[in-house]
Amino acid sequence: MTVEKQKAHLILPGDKDVQLDVITDNMGNNSIDIERLRANTGYITYDPGFANTGSCLSSICYIDGEKGILRYRGYDIEDLVENCDFIEVAHLLVKGVLPNASERKNYQMLLNKHSMLHYNMQNFFRSYPQDAHPMSILASMVASLSAFYPEMEERDPEENIDLTVTRMLSKMRTIAAFIYRQANGLQFVDPRWEYMYCENFLNMMFYTPVNNYHPNPVHVDLLNKLLILHGDHEQNCSTSAVRLVGSSEANLYASVAAGVCALWGPKHGGANQAVMAMLKNIVDNDIPVDDVIEKAKRKDNPFVLSGFGHRVYKTFDPRAKIAKKMNLTMLNAEHREDKLLEVALKLEEKALTDDYFIERHLYPNIDFYTGIMFHMMGFPQQMFTVLFAMGRTPGWIAHWLEWRHDIHQKLGRPRQVYVGPMERKVVPLDQRP
Ligand code: CMC
Repeated sequence: MTVEKQKAHLILPGDKDVQLDVITDNMGNNSIDIERLRANTGYITYDPGFANTGSCLSSICYIDGEKGILRYRGYDIEDLVENCDFIEVAHLLVKGVLPNASERKNYQMLLNKHSMLHYNMQNFFRSYPQDAHPMSILASMVASLSAFYPEMEERDPEENIDLTVTRMLSKMRTIAAFIYRQANGLQFVDPRWEYMYCENFLNMMFYTPVNNYHPNPVHVDLLNKLLILHGDHEQNCSTSAVRLVGSSEANLYASVAAGVCALWGPKHGGANQAVMAMLKNIVDNDIPVDDVIEKAKRKDNPFVLSGFGHRVYKTFDPRAKIAKKMNLTMLNAEHREDKLLEVALKLEEKALTDDYFIERHLYPNIDFYTGIMFHMMGFPQQMFTVLFAMGRTPGWIAHWLEWRHDIHQKLGRPRQVYVGPMERKVVPLDQRP
């Protein structure tokens, strides 16, 4: 990053010329530094949804939304999906480097060592209604980790960061699996030391004493790839929530719980569940794809084409391309067809040739094809966003750590443009209209 000699000039009412530093990032993108704008001029900026606001300097993830590029710490997403497993990518995101073979093995063993949940936490799962949404349980369980593993609160936080990070990353899959088991009236299955991260998760989800379950290597590989695709995505809604909560110096578990809540919504990670609901509705009710496209374009109803559009990508989301290819490869390998995928492909084809979608640069995003994969692997629809959260956990952790070690960081606290009433007096209760 360089702070260019070159300045941006802002002319304020009264012809006041304000000079602002131009910062150029490592990829040549320019930004205007407004950190001292209010202090020097009394003005603030207005930017709904922070669409034009760089909230931090970050070296974790790079996106070029015009070219459809996504890189974690400089590595292209496709390269990572092809050549690494989720543990390697988690190591890359959290620690900044890809592990060598022995580091990977040690990391795997360390994660397994910390994969159990405190026995008393199991009672919490049992208290939820059977049909509770998994994301509500996930958020509370992640926040509850700070009660059961309070090292960062009780002792020197710096000394306990590594342990807390490891616990967070590892226990996420155990919590996720236990949520599913509880909802289905199944006994909890403990993690096993000999399994890798994804195998362990699948075993905790699907093993029963009478089904002789062994994680299917094809599914293990697919899950690794899908979790890598979700690993990080710079300052998205949930990551910004993690950073904002972390900026108050709240502990990692509390910050990640905020990320889980932010992810839940259908405009963000909840879109994978919404896509599946949409596709199933189309298939079950034999709805013509053209009708769905037309409905998504109309502004007289809240319906949108779930899994389409993105704040940053104005072309194909590279993750959607990879997930689509994975779907097709899996079906070809199994020599079968899938109605949901068939409808998804038709929707994509129609949308990409429709002026409404072309003019607005709306392309399939990650959530358009991942749900179909999760479905084919046996995950129920309500668990899809939990799987997204599992994949995003190393990214959330990396951003929380980056904030913690960033000397420029401050408490996150945006301003507002006030449009409420002017000062007024309280009318006594008996005189109010
Ligand atoms: N279907 C129909 N119209 C859409 C869609 C869609 N999926 N997405 C955007 N538009 C329209 C929108 O109505 C607006 O139209 P107009 O200019 O006429 O008012 C225009 O496109 C621009 O959209 P926007 O909502 O202002 O753009 P944004 O950057 O604020 O929103 C988005 C991005 C992802 C929230 C939005 O595209 C959307 O709601 N998509 C569907 C939900 C979804 O798939 N979310 C997952 C996002 S990727 C994974 C993740 O981050 O979790």
